Amino acid sequence: MPTATKDIQKKIDALRDKIRQHEYRYYVLDDPEISDAEFDKLMEQLKHLEAEHPDLITPDSPTQRVGGKPREGFLKVRHSSPMLSLDNTYSEVELRAWERRVHELSGRKDIEYVCELKLDGMSMALRYAGAQLERGITRGDGNVGEDVTSNVRTVRSVPLSISKERLKKAGLPLDFEVRGELLMPLSGFQKMNEERERQGLSKFANPRNAAAGTVRQLEPSITAQRRLDFFGYSLLTNGRTLLDRHSETLDALEAAGFKVNPSRKLANNMEEVWTFIQQWEGKRDNLPHEIDGIVVKVDRRSLQEELGYTGKAPRWAIAYKYAARGGTTKVEDIIVQVGRTGKLTPVAMLRPVPIGGTTVSRATLHNMDEIERLGVKIGDWVEVERGGDVIPKVVRVVDDKDHPRGHKSFHMPERCPVCGGKVVRTPGEADHRCVNANCPAKLRETILHFAARSVMNIDGMGDALVNQLTERRLVNNVADIYRITKDDLLKLERMGDKSAQNVLNEIEASKKLPLQRVIYGLGIRFVGERTAEFLAEHFGSLDSIMNASEEELEQVNEVGPRIAQSIAEFFQEPRNRDLVEQLRNAGLTLKGKRKERGTKLAGQTFVLTGTLAHYSRDQAKKMIEDAGGRVASSVSKKTDFVIAGADAGSKLDKARELGVKIVDEKGMKALLEN
Ligand code: IVH
Repeated sequence: MPTATKDIQKKIDALRDKIRQHEYRYYVLDDPEISDAEFDKLMEQLKHLEAEHPDLITPDSPTQRVGGKPREGFLKVRHSSPMLSLDNTYSEVELRAWERRVHELSGRKDIEYVCELKLDGMSMALRYAGAQLERGITRGDGNVGEDVTSNVRTVRSVPLSISKERLKKAGLPLDFEVRGELLMPLSGFQKMNEERERQGLSKFANPRNAAAGTVRQLEPSITAQRRLDFFGYSLLTNGRTLLDRHSETLDALEAAGFKVNPSRKLANNMEEVWTFIQQWEGKRDNLPHEIDGIVVKVDRRSLQEELGYTGKAPRWAIAYKYAARGGTTKVEDIIVQVGRTGKLTPVAMLRPVPIGGTTVSRATLHNMDEIERLGVKIGDWVEVERGGDVIPKVVRVVDDKDHPRGHKSFHMPERCPVCGGKVVRTPGEADHRCVNANCPAKLRETILHFAARSVMNIDGMGDALVNQLTERRLVNNVADIYRITKDDLLKLERMGDKSAQNVLNEIEASKKLPLQRVIYGLGIRFVGERTAEFLAEHFGSLDSIMNASEEELEQVNEVGPRIAQSIAEFFQEPRNRDLVEQLRNAGLTLKGKRKERGTKLAGQTFVLTGTLAHYSRDQAKKMIEDAGGRVASSVSKKTDFVIAGADAGSKLDKARELGVKIVDEKGMKALLEN
C-alpha cells in the first residue's frame, strides 16, 4: 500500500472507531457524549472519505448499515439448534409448582435463578463469524427461520463488527451466536402509527406486530427508518450455551457491546424471584417498551442440562405473565369506522379511563357477532382490557347495582357512513361491508389492486404515486386513471417528464388487456383471477355479467351461491354500473370471446411436476383447464392426480406420502381423451 493510501486508511479506521463508540454510547447505553449534529458531522466526514476511496469501504463500516437492494423474499435458514419457546405461569401457586419440579428433577433445593424482563417483541438469532455480523435469522418455526440480515443490519444497537480485543476481554470467541429479542420501542411505535394514519394505511395493533412487520420488510431502507432495538439474552457456539452461568452470559454480552436489559436480577431463592416479579408489575408502565411478564431461568448451565427440555420449551426456564390490565367504564356511544376493504367496524366510544399508563377512550367491538356475544348496549358499563395489545377491547358488560344497564341497542347502518353506499353482510360472515367501489375509504387499495401487474399491469403506479393521486383527489375511482393528464403528473413529487410519459404509456397499453383483467380489476369480493377468467369466457361481455341473475351466475364454473350473490350485489349498486360506463367510454376492453369449457375433468384437481416430453407446463395446464379441471401448485389431500414428468421432485414424494394418484404423460392424455 502506498504511504498516502495508508494514511487515508488510518484516518478512515480512526473515524470508524470513533463513530462506533458514539453509536454504542447512544444506542446501547442510552448515554450519548456528543450532540446529534456533531455525530452527523463525523458520519459525513467518513462518507466523504469513502466516496473518494470506494475501494476502502468494508461491509462493517458504520456507513454500510443500509445497503443492498430491495429483495424478492427471504431465504430459509436452519438454526444451529432449535429456538425454543417458554412455558407460561400466571400465579404464584403455578410458579411454586414449577420450582417444586425443578427441585425434584435436580435433586437439590439451593438453586439460583436469573430474573429478566419478558420483552414483547420477536426473537432473533444473530450469527457472528470472524467478529463480524454474518446473519440475522428470525425464529420461524423454531427449526428453520428466515434470513433477514439486511434488515437486522439497520438496527443500530446491533454491532456490525466487534474488535477482537473487546471480544477477548468479554470472554467471547470470534465465531458465536447471540439470541435475543428484537422490538420496537413504544415511542417509535406511536410515531409510526400516527404516520400511517396520515397516509391512510392500516395501523399496527401492537409494537410486537410492528417489529415483526418491519423486520420482514423487503426494503432495508424502510426498516432503517423505523428504529428497532435488540436486546441479547443468550450466547451460543455451535448451537450450545457457551458459559457456565446464565448471569455470566448476560454480563459477557454486555461487555461485548450488546444491549442487555439492565433490569435483571440474580436471585438466591424463589422469595427473591417473587419480589422482583411484584416490583416490576407496578413499574412496567414506565418502561420505554412493552413487557408482558418476567422470565425466570435456572442460572447454572449444568443444572439446565440436567433439567432438559419438554417438547417445545426448556424445563429450566419459565415465563410469569402479568395479567392484562383492565378498567371499568361507560359506553357513551358506538360508532362505525370504515376500513380499506370496506369493512365496517363498530367502535365503543368510552368515558375516558386510565388503564396501564394511558387513557383509554375507545375500544374495538370487531363486528356484530361480537356485539351480540357481549350483549353490549349504548349506556352500558363495561370492563375494558389492554393486554400486550395496544388496541383495547371490551371484555364484558358489568351489571350490578352500581352499574345500571344501558338501553339503546346498536344497529349497523344500512348506508356507509363515509360515502352513503349500500352496506351488506354476506350470510355466514361476521363482517358488514360497504359495496360501493368508489367509497373513499376503499379508494387507495382499489386503485393499487387495479394497477397491479396481474390485473391491469400499469407499471409505475405503486404506493408512492397512488398516495399522491388519491390525496390530491386526482383519482377518485379506477376510471379516473384514464383521465390523468401529463400536467397532472408533472405536478407530483419525484415525477419528471420521462417518468410521466412512461406512466401515460402504461395506462394507454392497459386498455388493450382482455376482459377478464377488467373484471378482476373491479375488485368484486371473492372474484379472483380465475373466477374472472371463467366469467369472461362464459358470458363474453361485461354487460351480460352485469345483467345476469344470481341463478345465471351460478352456471359458471366454480361460481357458487356466495360468489354469485357478491357479483349481483356489486352490479346492483348504481355507482358501480356508472363506473363500468366510464371505463367503456375510456376505451377499455369490455367484450371477449365466449368459450365453453369441457366437463370431462370438472371438479378434479391436478398438480404438475417434472418435465413432460410433448407439452410445456403451460400447454398441459391449458389442456386440463379446457377440460374443466383445475391445476394447483402444491400437493395436498385434496389433489386428485399428480402428473409426473421426468426428474419429478418433492411434489412426487409428497403425492406418494399422501397416497395421491400419480400418472405420467400418457396417463394424462388418457384422462383427457376417454
Ligand atoms: S428466553 C429457551 N428470555 O418470549 C429460551 N425469551 O414466550 C427461550 N422473550 O420466544 C427464550 N424476553 O421471544 C427469553 N428475557 C427473555 C425474553 C424472552 C422475551 C420472548 C422470546 C421467546 C418468548 C417465549
